[in-house]
Parts: sequence; structure tokens; C-alpha cells
Amino acid sequence: VADRIGILTGGGDCPGLNAVIRAVARRSMLRGWEVVGVREGWRGLVDGIVEELGPREISGLLPRGGTILGTTRTNPYKVDGGVERVRENFGAMKLDALVAIGGEDTLGVAARLHAEHDFPVVGVPKTIDNDLSGTDYTFGFDTAVSVATEAIDRLHTTAESHNRVMVVEVMGRHTGWIAVMSGIAGGADVILIPEEPISIDEAVSDIRRRHERGKDFSIVVVSEGYELEGTAEEGDVDQFGHVRLSQRGVGDAVARQIEEKTGYETRVTVLGHIQRGGSPTARDRVLATRFGLKAADLAHAGKFGRMAALQGDQVVDVSLDEATKELKLVPAEWYDVAKAFFG
Ligand code: F6P
Repeated sequence: VADRIGILTGGGDCPGLNAVIRAVARRSMLRGWEVVGVREGWRGLVDGIVEELGPREISGLLPRGGTILGTTRTNPYKVDGGVERVRENFGAMKLDALVAIGGEDTLGVAARLHAEHDFPVVGVPKTIDNDLSGTDYTFGFDTAVSVATEAIDRLHTTAESHNRVMVVEVMGRHTGWIAVMSGIAGGADVILIPEEPISIDEAVSDIRRRHERGKDFSIVVVSEGYELEGTAEEGDVDQFGHVRLSQRGVGDAVARQIEEKTGYETRVTVLGHIQRGGSPTARDRVLATRFGLKAADLAHAGKFGRMAALQGDQVVDVSLDEATKELKLVPAEWYDVAKAFFG
């Protein structure tokens, strides 16, 4: 009997997921492994929903956004008997290895299953937020930054024409990676992120200083996780305990306060899921492909509990445990680059 490898994608969809699926599947098929797609993240293993993947299913995937396998934020540890069902279904489908492609939550489950049950899983770091430890970059981040940068460029047009302050709210649940990178690339005049919580009054004085220098518009990038009084505390919570940040309306609150305090006409744009949608950049396709090949190699070699990672320009492997212990925050050096252009 042939060895069988399962692939699952969990958490938010992310540009490059399909490129990983293709790479894992191609290398596995070449080595005589059967390849199985697990539907909708951990839910597919809890409920036993899978599909066989052949050459036809994995063709034409490089430019496709989203995930052909579907995804959810199902946490087997929060479902009655969930972990037992994952293990039973895994056995019933005669799987020998699993590649889990996900962020802190999906890979957190993988790490725990491996630690507690010796579950044969390897990880691939996916998130537009770029906040996973152990890897310099996750795939999907470059696409999100490109989308946000293009949006900032376009908002400059209206800002300049109308002498307005334009506030752009970008994603990043706990960290300001997208905000800082797109803000540097797009020439933001102020960037507000959770790691370096400059107050709204500091932001206002930066904007005033700029306008006193003769500029009559400004671009402010705010990360959805930035803490500000006046934003909603409550919202929907998922099975991993995360509040839906887009419901807090931090961009709105920032814009309102800037307008009140400066008197400058201010508008807000919330980029939301546009940042995750559509075709991955070439850089993300390449990174996703390299991660997929590495994950297949790790799984075929029985090196479970590991995650493919990028360190410098090398694809290496790190322990899933290490990668999911704590989030990778934006270092002060990066924020300093952005700050050099504030005000
Ligand atoms: O983790 C990726 C991410 O896009 C975050 O930036 C954001 O907070 C969250 O997912 C949004 O989740 P959902 O798509 O479930 O609204």
C-alpha cells in the first residue's frame, strides 16, 4: 500500500495557499505518495471530510487566491470529542502524515497534537499578518503589503485634491507588520500600531507640524489592533478566543479624533479582506512553493513536529512548539524607519 499524505489549510484564507498545496502534492506524487485534501481546516478531520487530489486538481493553482480546500477557524480542542475524532478519522483514512498550513491558531493545534499524541504533522507558516515566530516571513504578507501600498498611493490622490487627512485601517490582528511596511512603502505621515502605541495627541501634533510646513494633506495608516479609547470593546469571538477586530472600528475612531482635534477634514478607508483576496505576488508564490517542498520533504522523512521556515534566504525547519510559543512583533528598528518620515 502507498503512503498517504493529507494537506489542510486553516484560519483566514491567504494568497499563496494554493501554491503550497501544489508543491506538497507534486513532490509527494513524484515519490509515489497518495495525496488527500482535508476540507475546511481542522473541521475536515473532526468530521472526516476529505478528497483525493490528483494531477488535475492541482493544476493551474499558482495564480489562484484563497484555498481550493476551503478553510475554517475550527479548533478541535473546543469541539466535544474533537481531538479523538481527529485521531480516529486520520486513522480511518489511512493517512501517514499531515501538512497543516496555517497561522498561530492552526499551527498551535498542530503543535499540541504532536506534543500530546505524537501526531504526525508538519507545519507551513501562513498569515498575511507576518506574526509567526521562527520564520522571517510568512507567505501572503507580501501580497497584503502590496495591496495596502497601492491603496495608500490611490488615497494620496484624493488627499491632495481635497486637502484632507486620509486614515487607512489595515489588518494585523496583534501586530503592525502590514501597517509599518505599507506605510513605509506608501509614504505614510503617521503610522499607528499596537507595538509602539503613540498617542492620538502625538499623531495630531505630527499632522499639525506637517501642515504648518505647508503641506495641506496627510496619510495616516492605522493597524486594526491599535488600542484607542472610544473603540468598541465587544465583538464576535471565534473558537480561538479572538475578537473580530474589524468590528471595533479603530480607523473610524482615529479619524473622528483627528478631525475633532485638528479641524482638518478627515476620511477613513477600511481595507479589510481586500488585503487577503486575489492573486499572490510572485514573491509569495515562490516562498509558498519553497515552503511546500520543504514540508513534503519533512513529512516524507518522518520529521514531525517541525515547521518550514525562512531564515535569511534559506528555507530551514524549526520546531512547531517554538514557532507558536509567542508572536513575532514588529521590532523597534522597523518602526524607526517609518518614524523618520512622520510629521
Ligand atoms: O489573521 C489574518 C486576519 O486577516 C487578521 O489580519 C484579521 O484580524 C483576521 O484575519 C480577520 O478574520 P476574519 O476573516 O475571520 O474576519
